[in-house]
Amino acid sequence: MKDGCKKYIPFEPIKLENRKWPSNRITKPPVWCSVDLRDGNQALVDPMNLDEKTELFELLCKIGVKEIEVGFPSASETEYEFLRTLIKKELIPDDVTIQVLVQAREHLIRKTFEAIDGAKNVILHFYNSTSALQRKVVFKTDMQGVVDIAVNGAKLVKELGDELQARTGVNIRYEYSPESFMGTEPDNAIWICSEVMKVIGATPENKLILNLPSTVENTTPNCFADLIEYFCENLENRESAIISLHPHNDRGTAVATAELGMLAGAERIEGTLFGNGERTGNVDIITLAMNMYTQAIDPGLNFEHINEVKDVYERTTKMHVGVRHPYAGDLVFTAFSGSHQDAINKGEEYMANSHADMWEVPYLPIDPADVGREYEPVIRINSQSGKGGAAFIMHNSFGFILPKAMHPEFGKAVKKYCDSVGREISADEVMELFRREYIDRKGPFTLISHKFYEESELNDTSPKVRFEGMIRHNEDEPVPVTGKGNGPIDAFFNAMAKVGISGYKFVNYSEHAVSIGSDAKAVSYIQLRDPKGKTFFGVGMSHNINYASIRGVLCAINRSLTSEH
Ligand code: KIV
Ligand code: ZN
Repeated sequence: MKDGCKKYIPFEPIKLENRKWPSNRITKPPVWCSVDLRDGNQALVDPMNLDEKTELFELLCKIGVKEIEVGFPSASETEYEFLRTLIKKELIPDDVTIQVLVQAREHLIRKTFEAIDGAKNVILHFYNSTSALQRKVVFKTDMQGVVDIAVNGAKLVKELGDELQARTGVNIRYEYSPESFMGTEPDNAIWICSEVMKVIGATPENKLILNLPSTVENTTPNCFADLIEYFCENLENRESAIISLHPHNDRGTAVATAELGMLAGAERIEGTLFGNGERTGNVDIITLAMNMYTQAIDPGLNFEHINEVKDVYERTTKMHVGVRHPYAGDLVFTAFSGSHQDAINKGEEYMANSHADMWEVPYLPIDPADVGREYEPVIRINSQSGKGGAAFIMHNSFGFILPKAMHPEFGKAVKKYCDSVGREISADEVMELFRREYIDRKGPFTLISHKFYEESELNDTSPKVRFEGMIRHNEDEPVPVTGKGNGPIDAFFNAMAKVGISGYKFVNYSEHAVSIGSDAKAVSYIQLRDPKGKTFFGVGMSHNINYASIRGVLCAINRSLTSEH
């Protein structure tokens, strides 16, 4: 392995002085062209059938893609049939241009023109390979040889295009790709593209799309950007061309390549949903578009329902979107770590309380709702989760607003449980734990019955509350207890003294209503300090707020009596 790398030839960067692209900014979206149905399809284990292609085509239209490469009709019968079906069944919206790919070879070009007959808007995309390597090992020709192939192809394309235009009124435009552009000497790429531009008769009103593919990604995005800037600066008649990119992802940097390429002057991007395409795929137009979106640039594509896009994509291509795929993966809006959960929680609180217009939530680069995702799965619980995570679930999923001081206590119980089961736990399991720990907390003391009375003594302006009830200790017979106080909690405390409970100090109290289905109940949170100085929370729930409070007190007492001090 050590010396194995010596057999590779490093990419030779061009010498570009005073490059401008590093100080440029992306301020508007490119023209998007989907190559899902061609590059994406040709890379599938099982290429799509007619129905699957049609469904994906309709999805692309719905997303807002206006240029869609629908296939390579001269290369396969299915591709040919698909195109004919789209045209005959009038499935192509008027504002969508279909694009067809063809090698710069006579019989293939002729067949392609048969396939597009009857379409309203067409981009005829022709290509030949131009790199030094392809010239050497595949075509065994020099640069003049590949220029001739391109020029002859362009002549035929133009001739047949003019004929078709005159006969059917088709709105036809042309695209030329020097395939393997990345391995083509920059001046040779400019030479061949200029020759094609001349033949096509490109003008500022009728531009030729020059698609510069990184057919095999072979260098860092900055070197690619240098090439694009150089190409744009040195192409004569630049204003008569639309510079398009078609980044593949061999080095895993197709998105960066596209972004830096746009900084360097590219105006159009060919890519696919979720980056499907040959080998490691094409550039992912969802990531590119959403990256722009996070920079306050409307990308002109609609991913409001990203799960739907994912479903159609996975069904039609039989590919799988990874859980960490930007913007769309199952886990990308999920925080497991406690500090992340706390920060997200605080960010959302800040957004709600300040009625902020701008999105400022740590760890969430976008509002999940913008792509039709929910907040609910944002916080998930495992043993790495902190105190805030469980409280967030209790609030967001079940409506329980745990007092801040209670978060560490409940968080500890959740962490202990996660450690014991050794996995992530669901929101329902968090609720179940809460019930077990607080609401349904068993013994040693159980309240069997209770009643409150208000008592006013003569000349007493502040009436007293009297508690009467039956209390059982473990399995003993229930005993009657009574107590008087300034309020229900006080009265209950005094009654508990009758069964030997004393020395507890009241620390904190909060309450709110919580809806359980169509029912509403009061929930109260009581914090007590036990005689040994340790604090415990108790939670009580009832239709009656007084009863909810004393259940909370009893819960806190029971928890203190059964805890390991
Ligand atoms: O990757 C590539 O170079 C291509 C061309 C045909 C544009 O797909
Ligand atoms: Zn490609």
